[in-house]
Amino acid sequence: MQVILPPRMGFCFGVKRALKLIADEAKKVGEIYTLGDLIHNPQVVEELKKEGIKSVADLSQVKKGTIVIRAHGIDPSLKEKAVKKGLKVLDATCPYVLRVQKIAKLMSQESYEVIVVGVVSHPEVIGVTAGINKGKVYVIGSPEEAKKLPFIKKMGVIVQTTENLDNFRNIVKDLVEKSEECRVFNTICEVIKQRQKDAKNLAKKVEAMIVVGGHNSSNTYQLFKLCQNIGVKTYFIEKEGNLVEKEYKNLNKVGIIGGTSTPKETLERVKKKLLSID
Ligand code: F3S
Repeated sequence: MQVILPPRMGFCFGVKRALKLIADEAKKVGEIYTLGDLIHNPQVVEELKKEGIKSVADLSQVKKGTIVIRAHGIDPSLKEKAVKKGLKVLDATCPYVLRVQKIAKLMSQESYEVIVVGVVSHPEVIGVTAGINKGKVYVIGSPEEAKKLPFIKKMGVIVQTTENLDNFRNIVKDLVEKSEECRVFNTICEVIKQRQKDAKNLAKKVEAMIVVGGHNSSNTYQLFKLCQNIGVKTYFIEKEGNLVEKEYKNLNKVGIIGGTSTPKETLERVKKKLLSID
């Protein structure tokens, strides 16, 4: 069996930055908590837990110490609440996510109704929409939802950094007809665009694709959907232990791709395990 790894693997800039900030903080004394999982990868979150860094769902669970804001960002009012509580706040929000928050806020201040293309329950989208304090905000995820929007005179469109580029393109086509003025900011992260491109190229060359990453990772899920849409048999696993050997027995060429919160080493271990099936 030939197993092909993608040209780009491992953590993106934002995840590396968040992990470095937390590692530096861990050298100091005091308790460290992350508000929600720092990144969407259960193995990495487990490693952090072993180092004493716990993930909490709510600020009320933290009495003292440092609270870390994850790479996806949070509702800005929660940050203020943490400061008022006397906690040290370590903001690991990715600068690309901060840019989306800033554009959304500016557009609302300039009287645009804001359309966020993304997943309504995703932490990044929650943080972006919570930071808009003027005018209407809509979150949509599909061309069907775009068609259902009312006519909006001044429309400002932004997109979740991890959204699928093809889906965004299709949605924008419909939005243009729904407004008199439509300002579109393609805020999909460059790393995400590259991963999607790599996934597409690889999926066209192999008999099966294995997408590796946390099941709660939005960008990994997008890679999974993208490979499936190409028509190749696609598996979504978190780690090498999830491989079901019999499914790969008769395959000659398999491709692997990982999300931006999947460690490079996990992909290498998946490859090693696949080769041992051969
Ligand atoms: Fe930031 Fe892009 Fe990663 S938005 S967290 S560098 S996927």
